[in-house]
Amino acid sequence: MAAQGKSVCCWWVFLTLIIVLVSVGGSQCAEFNDYFYPSWAEDHVMYEGQMLKLKLDNISGAGFASKSTYLFGKANVQIKLVAGDSAGTVTAFYMSSQGDQHDEFDFEFLGNKSGEPYIVQTNVYSQGVGKREQRLYLWFDPTQDFHSYSLLWNRHQVVFMVDDVPIRVFKNRENETGLAYPQRQAMGVYSSIWNADDWATQGGLVKTDWSHAPFIASYRNFSIDACEYKGPQSMSECSSSSSSSSWWWDQAAYDSLDGKQRLKLRWVHDKYMIYDYCRDSTRFSTPQPECAQRI
Ligand SMILES: *[C@@H]1O[C@H](CO)[C@@H](O)[C@H](O)[C@H]1NC(C)=O
Ligand SMILES: *[C@@H]1O[C@H](CO)[C@@H](O)[C@H](O)[C@H]1NC(C)=O
Ligand SMILES: *[C@@H]1O[C@H](CO)[C@@H](O)[C@H](O)[C@H]1NC(C)=O
Ligand SMILES: *[C@@H]1O[C@H](CO)[C@@H](O)[C@H](O)[C@H]1NC(C)=O
Repeated sequence: MAAQGKSVCCWWVFLTLIIVLVSVGGSQCAEFNDYFYPSWAEDHVMYEGQMLKLKLDNISGAGFASKSTYLFGKANVQIKLVAGDSAGTVTAFYMSSQGDQHDEFDFEFLGNKSGEPYIVQTNVYSQGVGKREQRLYLWFDPTQDFHSYSLLWNRHQVVFMVDDVPIRVFKNRENETGLAYPQRQAMGVYSSIWNADDWATQGGLVKTDWSHAPFIASYRNFSIDACEYKGPQSMSECSSSSSSSSWWWDQAAYDSLDGKQRLKLRWVHDKYMIYDYCRDSTRFSTPQPECAQRI
């Protein structure tokens, strides 16, 4: 009896151990592995449970990329940016297509000296043409905790969001202005950290202090809720106007910001924006056509 009880006990302990190991191993960055793979310097990409870290040191930066490309939808990730002295470093989260006529939506987080504020720079490329930088400070310290950064992309608008607060909208004005809107090229989702001390911090004046390396950005809560591009047939499949399926981002509610979102966007622009290419008359003697757009 006693011997049998002992073996039953050990069998259970063994089984429990296996279940624990399998579930821990299986959930290790499950969301990350569902969508992404390390695409640059795998030895600078670190997994810590549900968290993923990218490391920049004097050897290399690091990055990850989505396994698939997409045409419309939403990509979201939570990031805790490099804490302390992050001067000279840039961490980016972006979507991009390939080639010299590529479309791209960028979040770039420009590091700073300890206690000095990060800058969030956003940009939009359409058919290879960018030069649409906006810069702002955040209303929180992005190194203290995780915050959500997302890109919503449909046929009407691209919305950049920070913790669900819209910080930038790029509208489709192709019909009215002829200005190309990104809607014909599938995009991947990417993130990376690298040394950009020739321009990033205080215009390049403050260099990376390598004695403070490694510089680490942490990520969690990866999600891409988007229409996967599977070849030319996706051009129509990803666009509900030409198929019976209806993607949530094609609902009328996502054609433009609602009143509350508009107020938040205005609040961000009024209080935190420090640069807007639409107001840079030195660079553009006449503002770009999309600058006249109503949000
Ligand atoms: C890189 O950093 C390590 C650790 O701080 C240091 O030992 C090494 O000399 C550095 N290498 C170069 C090429 O600067
Ligand atoms: C632009 O015009 C086309 C053709 O009339 C139409 O199908 C499409 O919905 C329009 N796009 C927007 C964003 O209004
Ligand atoms: C860094 O801090 C300085 C001083 O507060 C500020 O002027 C600058 O905009 C901050 N950000 C960057 C990326 O330089
Ligand atoms: C983010 O992920 C963590 C675990 O990795 C989870 O506890 C948390 O609920 C998630 N947050 C959101 C907003 O999804």
